[in-house]
Amino acid sequence: MITLGEYIIEKQHQFPDATGELTQLLGAIRLAAKVVNREINKAGLVDIIGATGVENVQGEVQQKLDLYANEKFKAALEARGEVCGVASEEEDEFVSFDSSRSIDSKYVVLMDPLDGSSNIDVNVSVGTIFSIYKRISPCGTPAVLEDFLQPGYRQVAAGYVVYGSSTMLVYTTGHGVHGFTCDPSLGVFYLSHENMTIPDDGVIYSINEGNYLKFPTGVKKYLKYCQEIEPETNRPYTSRYIGSLVSDFHRNLLKGGIYIYPSTASAPEGKLRLLYECNPMAFLIEQAGGKASDGFTRIMDIEPEELHQRVPFFCGSTHMVETVEGMMREYS
Ligand code: AHG
Ligand code: MN
Ligand code: MN
Ligand code: MN
Repeated sequence: MITLGEYIIEKQHQFPDATGELTQLLGAIRLAAKVVNREINKAGLVDIIGATGVENVQGEVQQKLDLYANEKFKAALEARGEVCGVASEEEDEFVSFDSSRSIDSKYVVLMDPLDGSSNIDVNVSVGTIFSIYKRISPCGTPAVLEDFLQPGYRQVAAGYVVYGSSTMLVYTTGHGVHGFTCDPSLGVFYLSHENMTIPDDGVIYSINEGNYLKFPTGVKKYLKYCQEIEPETNRPYTSRYIGSLVSDFHRNLLKGGIYIYPSTASAPEGKLRLLYECNPMAFLIEQAGGKASDGFTRIMDIEPEELHQRVPFFCGSTHMVETVEGMMREYS
């Protein structure tokens, strides 16, 4: 039984130029995950359910837990000296931490502090997503927008927390994907899934079919393909859609499958945000042997233009993603 902290230190040698900062940074995320997990586990008993009545920059009504998680992750990251600033789904602009507190703040973090907000009040699993880069601007100065607008292939680490039947933290630093499960009696994350890999093919597809009429033709063709009766290719596939990207992603990572949030007539860029949902999940899925694109272009090659930009998202087992990409090209 090895803990998250012990594992990161054991693997530290894989990070020649990080003299422990990344270890500290992941430790801050672990701490905030425990604090948020505690509130989620008693959501019905404390005033953490429901909306704040405030709209965020996304045009969504912020849930109390969105804000609670945002504050806790920001505070945990600011308390450590490794991070010079944070960008968040729940913050209009990036937040630059006081540069006088540490000349060694080499990293920036982008995060979705609470993913799957629509599930909070109905006791369905939610998550947190984080993405970590080396800053571009000089240490000792305030963070700048360019520190956050980096393409996904420059991430140094990414991961998520899934607050599900058990609470897990799954991360990659570019050396495989590793999952840790929290023992609630001790509040300790133990290694439970080392070197997670996604099957090359699968029979699960995750998409909000309520938007079917607004989908691009290539997606409609793929959904019909999934539903055709052809036992020799294990079709029809199974539809599973939880409404939390983290939960759908995690199940597909373990069992094989594809998650799709395409462009629609009403949302031409789709719904998911490139910097703190698609890029971290793309880093993870590629490290696990899968694929992530916008239907045409590798997610991690997309040059970001603004903090909250949205992109269509196709992510999961390589064969499934390549099948729908073929249909997107054919019918585009
Ligand atoms: P968030 O709660 O962080 O805003 O993200 C919600 C995302 C994603 O988690 C989920 O898969 C998707 O939105 C659900 O969107 P629809 O309700 O439109 O299907
Ligand atoms: Mn989200
Ligand atoms: Mn969110
Ligand atoms: Mn949201």
